[in-house]
Amino acid sequence: MKIVVAGTGYVGLVTGVCLSEVGHSVTCVDVDENKIKTLNEGKSPIFEPDLEELMKKNKEKLTFTLDSKKAYEEADVIFVGVGTPEKKDGSANLKYVYEVAKEIAENVKKDVIVVIKSTVPIGTNKKIEKYLNSNLKNKVRIEVVSNPEFLSQGTAVRDTLHAQRIVIGVNSKFAEKVMKEVYDGLGQPYVITDRESAEMIKYASNDFLALKISYMNEIANLCEIVGANIQDVAKGMGMDTRIGNKFLNAGIGYGGSCFPKDTKALSWLANFNDYELKTIKAAIEVNSNQKLKLIKKARKYYDDFEGLNIAVLGLTFKPNTDDLREAPSLYNIPILLDEGANIKAYDPVGEKNFKKIYPKEIIYCNNVEETLKNADICFIFTEWDEIKNIELGRYNELMKTPIVLDGRNCYDLNEVKKVKMVYESIGRKTINNINK
Ligand code: UGA
Repeated sequence: MKIVVAGTGYVGLVTGVCLSEVGHSVTCVDVDENKIKTLNEGKSPIFEPDLEELMKKNKEKLTFTLDSKKAYEEADVIFVGVGTPEKKDGSANLKYVYEVAKEIAENVKKDVIVVIKSTVPIGTNKKIEKYLNSNLKNKVRIEVVSNPEFLSQGTAVRDTLHAQRIVIGVNSKFAEKVMKEVYDGLGQPYVITDRESAEMIKYASNDFLALKISYMNEIANLCEIVGANIQDVAKGMGMDTRIGNKFLNAGIGYGGSCFPKDTKALSWLANFNDYELKTIKAAIEVNSNQKLKLIKKARKYYDDFEGLNIAVLGLTFKPNTDDLREAPSLYNIPILLDEGANIKAYDPVGEKNFKKIYPKEIIYCNNVEETLKNADICFIFTEWDEIKNIELGRYNELMKTPIVLDGRNCYDLNEVKKVKMVYESIGRKTINNINK
Protein backbone atom coordinates (compact mmCIF):
# COMPACT_ATOMS: atom_id res chain seq x y z
CA MET A 1 0.00 0.00 0.00
CA LYS A 2 1.45 3.37 -0.99
CA ILE A 3 0.70 6.09 1.54
CA VAL A 4 1.26 9.77 0.89
CA VAL A 5 0.99 12.47 3.54
CA ALA A 6 0.42 16.07 2.49
CA GLY A 7 1.88 18.57 4.97
CA THR A 8 4.86 18.03 7.27
CA GLY A 9 3.68 19.99 10.30
CA TYR A 10 2.92 18.37 13.65
CA VAL A 11 0.00 16.32 12.39
CA GLY A 12 1.30 15.31 8.95
CA LEU A 13 4.88 14.55 9.86
CA VAL A 14 4.09 12.60 13.02
CA THR A 15 1.41 10.61 11.18
CA GLY A 16 3.77 9.79 8.30
CA VAL A 17 6.64 8.77 10.56
CA CYS A 18 4.42 6.65 12.83
CA LEU A 19 2.84 4.88 9.85
CA SER A 20 6.32 3.99 8.64
CA GLU A 21 7.03 2.59 12.10
CA VAL A 22 4.15 0.11 11.65
CA GLY A 23 5.58 -1.04 8.34
CA HIS A 24 4.13 1.19 5.59
CA SER A 25 6.09 2.98 2.90
CA VAL A 26 5.25 6.63 3.30
CA THR A 27 5.94 9.63 1.10
CA CYS A 28 5.63 12.99 2.86
CA VAL A 29 5.09 16.00 0.62
CA ASP A 30 5.29 19.68 1.40
CA VAL A 31 5.53 22.92 -0.55
CA ASP A 32 8.19 24.29 1.79
CA GLU A 33 11.62 23.68 0.26
CA ASN A 34 13.49 24.30 3.51
CA LYS A 35 11.40 21.78 5.40
CA ILE A 36 11.94 19.06 2.81
CA LYS A 37 15.67 19.81 2.74
CA THR A 38 15.86 19.54 6.54
CA LEU A 39 13.87 16.29 6.51
CA ASN A 40 16.11 14.82 3.84
CA GLU A 41 19.08 15.60 6.07
CA GLY A 42 17.46 13.36 8.67
CA LYS A 43 16.40 16.26 10.88
CA SER A 44 12.95 17.21 12.09
CA PRO A 45 11.87 20.78 11.37
CA ILE A 46 9.74 20.72 14.55
CA PHE A 47 10.81 20.16 18.12
CA GLU A 48 9.12 16.91 19.08
CA PRO A 49 10.59 14.28 21.42
CA ASP A 50 11.34 10.87 19.78
CA LEU A 51 10.47 12.02 16.27
CA GLU A 52 13.98 12.27 14.86
CA GLU A 53 14.96 8.87 16.30
CA LEU A 54 11.94 7.29 14.63
CA MET A 55 12.76 9.05 11.34
CA LYS A 56 16.27 7.59 11.47
CA LYS A 57 15.02 4.12 12.36
CA ASN A 58 12.57 4.05 9.44
CA LYS A 59 14.54 6.02 6.87
CA GLU A 60 14.26 3.23 4.28
CA LYS A 61 10.47 3.48 4.40
CA LEU A 62 10.26 7.28 4.38
CA THR A 63 10.51 9.66 1.44
CA PHE A 64 10.34 13.44 1.72
CA THR A 65 9.66 15.32 -1.46
CA LEU A 66 8.41 18.53 -3.07
CA ASP A 67 7.16 16.48 -6.02
CA SER A 68 3.53 16.08 -5.00
CA LYS A 69 2.45 15.33 -8.57
CA LYS A 70 4.42 12.10 -8.74
CA ALA A 71 3.47 11.17 -5.17
CA TYR A 72 -0.27 11.56 -5.82
CA GLU A 73 -0.09 9.65 -9.11
CA GLU A 74 1.11 6.54 -7.33
CA ALA A 75 -0.81 6.79 -4.07
CA ASP A 76 -3.38 4.33 -2.69
CA VAL A 77 -4.14 6.50 0.33
CA ILE A 78 -3.44 10.22 0.71
CA PHE A 79 -3.51 11.79 4.15
CA VAL A 80 -4.11 15.53 4.34
CA GLY A 81 -2.49 17.06 7.40
CA VAL A 82 -2.16 20.73 6.51
CA GLY A 83 -3.11 23.59 8.82
CA THR A 84 -6.59 25.08 9.22
CA PRO A 85 -5.70 28.36 10.96
CA GLU A 86 -8.15 30.78 12.45
CA LYS A 87 -9.68 33.48 10.25
CA LYS A 88 -10.36 36.96 11.63
CA ASP A 89 -14.00 36.05 12.32
CA GLY A 90 -13.01 32.89 14.25
CA SER A 91 -13.95 30.44 11.50
CA ALA A 92 -11.47 27.87 10.17
CA ASN A 93 -9.45 28.82 7.10
CA LEU A 94 -9.66 25.90 4.67
CA LYS A 95 -7.43 27.47 2.02
CA TYR A 96 -4.56 24.99 2.44
CA VAL A 97 -6.86 21.95 2.50
CA TYR A 98 -8.42 23.03 -0.80
CA GLU A 99 -5.03 23.79 -2.34
CA VAL A 100 -4.01 20.19 -1.62
CA ALA A 101 -7.39 18.88 -2.83
CA LYS A 102 -6.92 20.71 -6.14
CA GLU A 103 -3.52 19.11 -6.70
CA ILE A 104 -4.85 15.69 -5.77
CA ALA A 105 -7.76 16.01 -8.20
CA GLU A 106 -5.42 17.05 -10.99
CA ASN A 107 -2.86 14.31 -10.48
CA VAL A 108 -4.36 11.05 -9.20
CA LYS A 109 -4.27 8.29 -11.79
CA LYS A 110 -5.79 5.38 -9.88
CA ASP A 111 -8.54 4.79 -7.31
CA VAL A 112 -7.62 6.49 -4.09
CA ILE A 113 -8.80 7.20 -0.56
CA VAL A 114 -8.23 10.76 0.66
CA VAL A 115 -8.02 10.96 4.44
CA ILE A 116 -8.64 14.33 6.08
CA LYS A 117 -6.56 14.53 9.27
CA SER A 118 -6.66 18.32 9.49
CA THR A 119 -9.27 19.67 11.89
CA VAL A 120 -12.11 20.80 9.62
CA PRO A 121 -15.63 22.06 10.31
CA ILE A 122 -18.48 19.60 10.27
CA GLY A 123 -19.60 18.95 6.69
CA THR A 124 -16.18 19.69 5.13
CA ASN A 125 -15.26 16.08 4.25
CA LYS A 126 -18.38 15.74 2.15
CA LYS A 127 -17.69 19.07 0.45
CA ILE A 128 -14.10 18.07 -0.30
CA GLU A 129 -15.26 14.81 -1.86
CA LYS A 130 -17.63 16.76 -4.09
CA TYR A 131 -14.88 19.21 -4.98
CA LEU A 132 -12.43 16.40 -5.81
CA ASN A 133 -14.93 14.59 -7.99
CA SER A 134 -15.81 17.68 -9.94
CA ASN A 135 -12.13 18.56 -10.53
CA LEU A 136 -10.75 15.11 -11.38
CA LYS A 137 -8.57 15.02 -14.50
CA ASN A 138 -8.59 11.21 -14.78
CA LYS A 139 -11.48 8.80 -14.40
CA VAL A 140 -10.81 7.24 -11.00
CA ARG A 141 -12.83 6.41 -7.90
CA ILE A 142 -12.05 8.81 -5.09
CA GLU A 143 -13.48 8.73 -1.57
CA VAL A 144 -12.93 11.01 1.38
CA VAL A 145 -12.52 9.70 4.92
CA SER A 146 -12.48 11.76 8.10
CA ASN A 147 -9.75 10.62 10.48
CA PRO A 148 -9.18 13.31 13.12
CA GLU A 149 -5.99 13.52 15.12
CA PHE A 150 -5.70 13.52 18.90
CA LEU A 151 -1.98 13.97 19.39
CA SER A 152 -0.59 16.61 21.74
CA GLN A 153 2.59 18.53 21.03
CA GLY A 154 5.44 17.23 23.14
CA THR A 155 3.98 13.71 23.32
CA ALA A 156 2.90 13.44 19.68
CA VAL A 157 4.75 10.21 18.86
CA ARG A 158 3.55 8.41 21.98
CA ASP A 159 -0.01 9.70 21.46
CA THR A 160 -0.02 8.32 17.92
CA LEU A 161 1.61 4.95 18.58
CA HIS A 162 -0.49 4.40 21.70
CA ALA A 163 -3.66 6.30 20.84
CA GLN A 164 -6.75 5.67 22.98
CA ARG A 165 -8.91 5.46 19.87
CA ILE A 166 -8.78 5.81 16.12
CA VAL A 167 -11.79 7.70 14.85
CA ILE A 168 -12.77 6.91 11.28
CA GLY A 169 -15.64 8.64 9.54
CA VAL A 170 -16.53 6.79 6.36
CA ASN A 171 -19.19 6.59 3.73
CA SER A 172 -18.53 3.04 2.50
CA LYS A 173 -17.44 -0.41 3.66
CA PHE A 174 -14.62 -0.25 1.13
CA ALA A 175 -13.12 2.86 2.73
CA GLU A 176 -13.49 1.29 6.17
CA LYS A 177 -11.57 -1.78 5.00
CA VAL A 178 -8.73 0.30 3.55
CA MET A 179 -8.45 2.38 6.73
CA LYS A 180 -8.22 -0.77 8.82
CA GLU A 181 -5.39 -1.99 6.60
CA VAL A 182 -3.60 1.28 7.32
CA TYR A 183 -4.11 1.16 11.08
CA ASP A 184 -4.41 -2.49 12.14
CA GLY A 185 -0.67 -2.57 12.91
CA LEU A 186 -1.22 -0.13 15.77
CA GLY A 187 -3.71 -2.43 17.53
CA GLN A 188 -5.89 0.40 18.83
CA PRO A 189 -9.69 0.47 19.23
CA TYR A 190 -11.68 1.96 16.37
CA VAL A 191 -14.67 4.26 16.44
CA ILE A 192 -16.26 3.88 13.03
CA THR A 193 -18.92 6.42 12.23
CA ASP A 194 -20.20 8.77 9.54
CA ARG A 195 -17.98 11.64 8.47
CA GLU A 196 -19.95 14.39 10.20
CA SER A 197 -19.77 12.62 13.56
CA ALA A 198 -16.04 12.03 13.16
CA GLU A 199 -15.52 15.71 12.43
CA MET A 200 -17.61 16.60 15.46
CA ILE A 201 -15.73 14.14 17.73
CA LYS A 202 -12.57 16.14 17.10
CA TYR A 203 -14.07 19.56 17.90
CA ALA A 204 -16.16 18.28 20.78
CA SER A 205 -13.10 16.60 22.35
CA ASN A 206 -10.83 19.62 22.10
CA ASP A 207 -13.55 22.01 23.20
CA PHE A 208 -14.49 19.80 26.13
CA LEU A 209 -10.88 19.82 27.34
CA ALA A 210 -10.73 23.61 26.91
CA LEU A 211 -13.99 23.89 28.86
CA LYS A 212 -12.60 21.64 31.59
CA ILE A 213 -9.55 23.91 31.93
CA SER A 214 -11.63 27.10 31.96
CA TYR A 215 -13.95 25.55 34.54
CA MET A 216 -10.99 24.72 36.79
CA ASN A 217 -9.58 28.21 36.27
CA GLU A 218 -12.84 29.75 37.42
CA ILE A 219 -13.00 27.45 40.44
CA ALA A 220 -9.37 28.42 41.14
CA ASN A 221 -10.26 32.10 41.04
CA LEU A 222 -13.02 31.47 43.53
CA CYS A 223 -10.65 29.35 45.67
CA GLU A 224 -8.42 32.41 45.99
CA ILE A 225 -11.34 34.49 47.22
CA VAL A 226 -12.71 31.98 49.71
CA GLY A 227 -9.37 30.54 50.88
CA ALA A 228 -9.49 27.04 49.34
CA ASN A 229 -6.65 25.26 47.54
CA ILE A 230 -7.32 24.37 43.89
CA GLN A 231 -4.80 21.53 43.81
CA ASP A 232 -6.50 19.76 46.71
CA VAL A 233 -9.86 20.47 45.11
CA ALA A 234 -8.65 18.98 41.79
CA LYS A 235 -7.29 15.93 43.59
CA GLY A 236 -10.57 15.37 45.37
CA MET A 237 -12.55 15.82 42.16
CA GLY A 238 -10.22 13.72 40.03
CA MET A 239 -10.57 10.60 42.15
CA ASP A 240 -14.14 10.39 40.92
CA THR A 241 -13.73 8.35 37.74
CA ARG A 242 -16.76 10.08 36.24
CA ILE A 243 -14.76 13.31 36.32
CA GLY A 244 -11.27 11.89 35.66
CA ASN A 245 -8.00 13.27 36.99
CA LYS A 246 -6.59 14.73 33.76
CA PHE A 247 -6.75 18.34 32.56
CA LEU A 248 -7.73 19.67 35.96
CA ASN A 249 -4.66 21.89 36.33
CA ALA A 250 -5.54 25.52 36.87
CA GLY A 251 -3.17 28.10 35.43
CA ILE A 252 -2.94 31.20 33.29
CA GLY A 253 -5.08 29.74 30.57
CA TYR A 254 -4.79 27.35 27.68
CA GLY A 255 -2.78 28.26 24.57
CA GLY A 256 -1.36 26.44 21.58
CA SER A 257 -2.51 25.97 18.03
CA CYS A 258 -5.60 23.93 18.86
CA PHE A 259 -7.83 24.83 21.82
CA PRO A 260 -8.03 28.59 21.11
CA LYS A 261 -8.71 27.99 17.41
CA ASP A 262 -11.07 25.04 17.79
CA THR A 263 -13.25 26.67 20.46
CA LYS A 264 -13.69 29.72 18.27
CA ALA A 265 -14.34 27.66 15.14
CA LEU A 266 -17.08 25.56 16.75
CA SER A 267 -18.66 28.62 18.30
CA TRP A 268 -18.58 30.29 14.86
CA LEU A 269 -20.13 27.22 13.23
CA ALA A 270 -22.91 27.16 15.82
CA ASN A 271 -23.63 30.87 15.28
CA PHE A 272 -23.62 30.34 11.55
CA ASN A 273 -26.35 27.76 12.09
CA ASP A 274 -28.31 30.10 14.39
CA TYR A 275 -27.33 28.27 17.53
CA GLU A 276 -25.45 29.74 20.47
CA LEU A 277 -22.90 27.43 22.15
CA LYS A 278 -23.06 29.13 25.54
CA THR A 279 -20.63 26.84 27.37
CA ILE A 280 -17.90 27.21 24.77
CA LYS A 281 -18.37 30.96 24.59
CA ALA A 282 -17.90 31.10 28.35
CA ALA A 283 -14.76 28.93 28.13
CA ILE A 284 -13.27 31.36 25.59
CA GLU A 285 -14.08 34.41 27.72
CA VAL A 286 -12.73 32.87 30.92
CA ASN A 287 -9.54 31.94 29.09
CA SER A 288 -8.87 35.39 27.72
CA ASN A 289 -9.26 36.93 31.19
CA GLN A 290 -7.14 34.22 32.77
CA LYS A 291 -4.19 34.99 30.52
CA LEU A 292 -3.81 38.39 32.19
CA LYS A 293 -4.25 37.16 35.72
CA LEU A 294 -0.61 37.54 36.76
CA ILE A 295 -0.47 41.14 35.54
CA LYS A 296 -3.43 41.94 37.81
CA LYS A 297 -1.66 40.25 40.70
CA ALA A 298 1.53 42.19 39.95
CA ARG A 299 -0.32 45.50 40.26
CA LYS A 300 -0.79 44.80 43.96
CA TYR A 301 2.97 45.26 44.34
CA TYR A 302 3.74 47.89 41.70
CA ASP A 303 1.36 50.51 40.23
CA ASP A 304 3.13 50.33 36.91
CA PHE A 305 6.14 48.51 35.51
CA GLU A 306 8.19 51.51 34.37
CA GLY A 307 11.89 50.85 34.96
CA LEU A 308 11.29 47.57 36.82
CA ASN A 309 13.56 44.59 36.27
CA ILE A 310 11.28 41.73 35.37
CA ALA A 311 12.30 38.08 35.19
CA VAL A 312 10.19 35.94 32.87
CA LEU A 313 10.46 32.17 33.17
CA GLY A 314 8.94 30.21 30.30
CA LEU A 315 7.81 31.55 26.93
CA THR A 316 6.18 28.60 25.13
CA PHE A 317 2.48 27.73 25.50
CA LYS A 318 3.42 24.57 27.43
CA PRO A 319 6.62 22.61 28.16
CA ASN A 320 8.33 20.25 25.67
CA THR A 321 7.52 22.32 22.63
CA ASP A 322 9.05 25.35 20.94
CA ASP A 323 5.60 26.54 19.89
CA LEU A 324 4.55 30.03 20.96
CA ARG A 325 1.11 30.13 19.42
CA GLU A 326 -1.38 31.73 21.84
CA ALA A 327 1.19 31.46 24.62
CA PRO A 328 0.41 33.61 27.70
CA SER A 329 3.90 35.16 27.35
CA LEU A 330 2.77 36.81 24.11
CA TYR A 331 -0.14 38.47 25.89
CA ASN A 332 1.80 39.63 28.95
CA ILE A 333 5.19 40.68 27.63
CA PRO A 334 3.83 43.42 25.31
CA ILE A 335 2.05 45.02 28.28
CA LEU A 336 5.19 44.92 30.41
CA LEU A 337 7.29 46.34 27.57
CA ASP A 338 4.73 49.05 26.82
CA GLU A 339 4.93 50.22 30.39
CA GLY A 340 8.71 50.47 30.20
CA ALA A 341 9.85 47.32 32.03
CA ASN A 342 13.32 45.82 31.53
CA ILE A 343 12.73 42.16 30.76
CA LYS A 344 15.08 39.22 31.09
CA ALA A 345 13.63 35.92 29.92
CA TYR A 346 14.52 32.25 29.91
CA ASP A 347 12.99 29.33 28.02
CA PRO A 348 14.91 26.10 27.33
CA VAL A 349 13.72 25.81 23.71
CA GLY A 350 11.34 28.70 22.95
CA GLU A 351 13.98 31.45 22.83
CA LYS A 352 14.77 31.03 19.12
CA ASN A 353 11.16 31.56 18.06
CA PHE A 354 10.58 34.37 20.55
CA LYS A 355 13.63 36.19 19.20
CA LYS A 356 11.93 36.34 15.80
CA ILE A 357 9.21 38.50 17.39
CA TYR A 358 11.31 40.35 19.97
CA PRO A 359 14.90 40.35 18.70
CA LYS A 360 16.22 43.22 20.82
CA GLU A 361 13.58 44.28 23.32
CA ILE A 362 14.36 41.47 25.76
CA ILE A 363 17.54 40.08 27.25
CA TYR A 364 17.58 36.30 26.76
CA CYS A 365 19.28 34.28 29.47
CA ASN A 366 20.83 30.81 29.49
CA ASN A 367 19.30 29.61 32.73
CA VAL A 368 16.88 30.44 35.53
CA GLU A 369 19.49 31.85 37.87
CA GLU A 370 20.88 34.35 35.35
CA THR A 371 17.30 35.52 34.67
CA LEU A 372 16.54 36.13 38.34
CA LYS A 373 19.58 38.28 39.09
CA ASN A 374 18.54 41.68 40.44
CA ALA A 375 14.87 41.27 39.42
CA ASP A 376 12.08 43.21 41.14
CA ILE A 377 9.46 40.62 40.26
CA CYS A 378 9.31 37.26 38.49
CA PHE A 379 6.57 35.86 36.24
CA ILE A 380 6.35 32.11 35.54
CA PHE A 381 4.44 31.36 32.33
CA THR A 382 5.51 27.77 31.52
CA GLU A 383 6.19 24.83 33.82
CA TRP A 384 9.46 23.58 32.32
CA ASP A 385 11.35 21.09 34.54
CA GLU A 386 14.31 23.50 34.66
CA ILE A 387 12.00 26.04 36.33
CA LYS A 388 10.19 23.56 38.58
CA ASN A 389 13.46 22.10 39.83
CA ILE A 390 15.19 25.28 40.96
CA GLU A 391 16.04 25.41 44.63
CA LEU A 392 13.50 27.86 46.04
CA GLY A 393 16.01 29.74 48.20
CA ARG A 394 17.65 31.02 44.99
CA TYR A 395 14.75 33.42 44.40
CA ASN A 396 15.60 35.35 47.55
CA GLU A 397 19.34 35.09 47.03
CA LEU A 398 19.28 36.37 43.46
CA MET A 399 16.34 38.77 43.14
CA LYS A 400 16.32 42.36 44.36
CA THR A 401 12.81 41.74 45.74
CA PRO A 402 11.73 38.08 45.75
CA ILE A 403 8.17 38.50 44.48
CA VAL A 404 7.27 35.45 42.39
CA LEU A 405 4.03 35.17 40.43
CA ASP A 406 3.59 31.59 39.29
CA GLY A 407 1.01 31.01 36.55
CA ARG A 408 1.54 27.23 36.55
CA ASN A 409 1.56 26.24 40.23
CA CYS A 410 5.10 24.91 39.95
CA TYR A 411 5.89 24.71 43.66
CA ASP A 412 4.57 23.00 46.75
CA LEU A 413 3.26 25.62 49.18
CA ASN A 414 4.82 23.80 52.15
CA GLU A 415 8.24 24.19 50.51
CA VAL A 416 7.59 27.85 49.67
CA LYS A 417 6.72 28.50 53.32
CA LYS A 418 10.26 27.56 54.31
CA VAL A 419 11.93 30.36 52.30
CA LYS A 420 11.86 34.13 52.26
CA MET A 421 9.69 35.22 49.35
CA VAL A 422 6.32 36.55 48.27
CA TYR A 423 4.70 33.79 46.26
CA GLU A 424 1.40 34.03 44.42
CA SER A 425 0.11 31.17 42.33
CA ILE A 426 -3.27 30.24 40.83
CA GLY A 427 -6.12 29.17 43.12
CA ARG A 428 -3.94 28.91 46.20
CA LYS A 429 -3.14 31.11 49.19
CA THR A 430 -0.54 33.85 48.84
CA ILE A 431 2.59 33.18 50.85
CA ASN A 432 4.41 36.24 52.14
CA ASN A 433 7.51 35.43 54.15
CA ILE A 434 9.46 38.46 53.11
CA ASN A 435 9.67 40.00 56.57
CA LYS A 436 10.44 36.74 58.34
C1 UGA B 1 -4.47 19.52 22.13
C2 UGA B 1 -5.18 18.24 22.57
O1 UGA B 1 -4.78 17.89 23.89
C3 UGA B 1 -4.88 17.08 21.61
O2 UGA B 1 -5.63 15.94 21.97
C4 UGA B 1 -5.25 17.50 20.18
O3 UGA B 1 -4.96 16.49 19.25
C5 UGA B 1 -4.48 18.76 19.83
O4 UGA B 1 -4.81 19.80 20.78
C6 UGA B 1 -4.85 19.17 18.42
O5 UGA B 1 -6.03 19.46 18.18
O6 UGA B 1 -4.02 19.07 17.52
P1 UGA B 1 -1.99 20.55 22.46
O7 UGA B 1 -2.56 21.83 21.95
O8 UGA B 1 -0.71 20.06 21.88
O9 UGA B 1 -3.06 19.34 22.26
O10 UGA B 1 -1.71 20.72 24.00
P2 UGA B 1 -2.40 20.31 25.38
O11 UGA B 1 -1.46 19.45 26.11
O12 UGA B 1 -3.77 19.81 25.21
O13 UGA B 1 -2.42 21.72 26.13
C7 UGA B 1 -3.17 22.81 25.62
C8 UGA B 1 -3.12 23.97 26.59
O14 UGA B 1 -3.90 23.66 27.76
C9 UGA B 1 -1.73 24.32 27.11
O15 UGA B 1 -1.57 25.73 27.10
C10 UGA B 1 -1.69 23.79 28.51
O16 UGA B 1 -0.83 24.51 29.36
C11 UGA B 1 -3.15 23.96 28.92
N1 UGA B 1 -3.56 23.06 30.02
C12 UGA B 1 -3.60 21.72 29.82
C13 UGA B 1 -3.96 23.60 31.23
O17 UGA B 1 -3.96 24.84 31.43
N2 UGA B 1 -4.37 22.75 32.23
C14 UGA B 1 -4.41 21.41 32.06
O18 UGA B 1 -4.81 20.70 33.02
C15 UGA B 1 -4.01 20.88 30.84
